Amino acid sequence: MRFCVITVYRRDLFNLSKIIDRKELLLLLAYITGQSYHQVFFAEQNELSNEQFSQLLNCIKRAFAGEPVSKITRSKEFYGISYITGEYTMDPRPETELIIDLFLKCFLDNSACINILDLGCGTGCIALTILTMYKNSRATLADIDENTLEIAKENATKLKVYDRCDFVKTNWFSDIKKQYEVIVTNPPYVSSESVLDKSTLYDPHRALFAGVDGLEAYKQIMPKAHDYLKKNGMLFVEIGINQKDHVSNMADKLQMHMSAKDLSGIERTLVFTKL
Ligand SMILES: C[S@@+](CC[C@H](N)C(=O)[O-])C[C@H]1O[C@@H](n2cnc3c(N)ncnc32)[C@H](O)[C@@H]1O
Repeated sequence: MRFCVITVYRRDLFNLSKIIDRKELLLLLAYITGQSYHQVFFAEQNELSNEQFSQLLNCIKRAFAGEPVSKITRSKEFYGISYITGEYTMDPRPETELIIDLFLKCFLDNSACINILDLGCGTGCIALTILTMYKNSRATLADIDENTLEIAKENATKLKVYDRCDFVKTNWFSDIKKQYEVIVTNPPYVSSESVLDKSTLYDPHRALFAGVDGLEAYKQIMPKAHDYLKKNGMLFVEIGINQKDHVSNMADKLQMHMSAKDLSGIERTLVFTKL
C-alpha cells in the first residue's frame, strides 16, 4: 500500500473550527498523533499518515454527532491532571474541583497523614488528586461498579499513587469497614425527571440520577456518614442546585462549617465536621 503523508496546516484547523470547537479539534489531533495538546497547539503544521487522517475525520464526525471529545479520547482534565475516563465513568466536572480547593484550605500541612474515603469514586479524580499533593496520605476508593473501579485503578497506577490506595466495591457504606479522617463524595444528584444536555447521555445513568427528587443518594449517605468518620472527621460533599437545605437537614451528628459556590453562583460544595 502506498504510504502518503497529509499535512494539516494551522489555517486548515481554523476552517475546521467552523464545524467543531477549536480546542476540541486540537485535543482530537493530539490524541490521533500521540502528541501533547501544547505540541499541536503551537505547531504550524502537523503531518498525518493517511490512516491517521481518516481516524481524525472519523473522530470529528463522532464529535459533530454530539459525542463528547473526552469519551472519544478517553481522557479528561481535572485539577490540571489528565484522567482516564470512558463509557463506565462519569467525566470529571470542573465544579468538582471545588472539593479539592476546600480540602486544601482545611488541611494546610501537606505532609499530614490523612485517611480518605472517596465514596462513589468514578475515575478516582477527587481522592487521587489529593494523594498527588499529600504524599503521606492514603485513600479508599469505593464505587458500586466493578468496571468503574478498574478505571480508578488505572488512574492510580498512572499517577503513581496505587500503593497508597485500596479499592472497594460497595453500595455506599455497606462494605466500608473502618473510620476515616475525611470522606469525600460527589454522588448522583439529578432528578430522574430532568432533561439533561445531550452530551450527558454518554455518562453512565447510575452516576447521574438519584430518584425523582435527586436526593436518593444523600438519603443513604448523610445519616450514616458520622459512623464512618473519626472524631473531628470531615465530610466534603458536592450537591446539586437548591439542595443545600435538604442535604444539611439529613446530616446526623455532623455540623456544617463551610460551603462554596461554583462559577455560576450555585451552592455546590458543603463541608461538615463530626461533632
Ligand atoms: C456523580 S459520579 C462521581 C464520580 C467521581 N467521584 C467524580 O466526582 O467525578 C457518582 C459515582 O457514584 C457511583 N455510585 C452510584 N451509586 C452508587 C452506590 N449505590 N454505591 C456506591 N457508588 C455509587 C457511580 O458509579 C459514580 O461513579
